[in-house]
Amino acid sequence: MRRAERFLALSDFEAAGRRHLPRMLHGFVAGAAETDQSLRDNRAAFAEWGFVPRALADTSGRSQEATLLDATHAAPFGIAPMGAGAICAYRSDIVLARAAASAGIPMVTSASSLIPLEEIRAAGSDWYQAYLPGEEGRIEALVERVARAGYGTFVLTADVPVPANRENNLRN
Ligand SMILES: Cc1cc2nc3c(=O)[nH]c(=O)nc-3n(C[C@H](O)[C@H](O)[C@H](O)COP(=O)(O)O)c2cc1C
Repeated sequence: MRRAERFLALSDFEAAGRRHLPRMLHGFVAGAAETDQSLRDNRAAFAEWGFVPRALADTSGRSQEATLLDATHAAPFGIAPMGAGAICAYRSDIVLARAAASAGIPMVTSASSLIPLEEIRAAGSDWYQAYLPGEEGRIEALVERVARAGYGTFVLTADVPVPANRENNLRN
């Protein structure tokens, strides 16, 4: 059996990641702020959502396609921006961009990527996520560079006006 075929669900990756990564890196990826209370609350809130079964429906032309911002994607989800991913896997952003492009889903290049944004664009990512710097001149330079690289969608992260208190990073 090929290695990748042993991973049937996302939680299978989590267990393997815990074994593979040094504690500090695993904590950076899997941990959240302070006591992880918001992380647990978010998981619990999502667990409340469910599917409504529809029996005796025509299943011959099933599709998960979803249209967002004028583009049609193969599934209603994509790969969220993950900063500093390349400290966990070799040039991870390039790997993720290629995988997302071949699966027909969006992959968001992180402002905190360790790989130049132009290279990730060339590997297939069309969305760029930014934390806006405070000064207008720097914002303009950033937007121009992202546009010049050919990204079609500019994603603005608005929920980090100050950094979170990530105690697990300090502990590890
Ligand atoms: C290791 C890691 C790095 C992240 N880096 C970024 C980032 O650079 N920019 C950003 O906007 N969000 C970042 N996030 C937040 C994710 O994009 C996402 O919004 C968050 O994990 C919630 O989605 P989830 O429930 O699917 O994990 C990061 C999350 C993780 C776990």
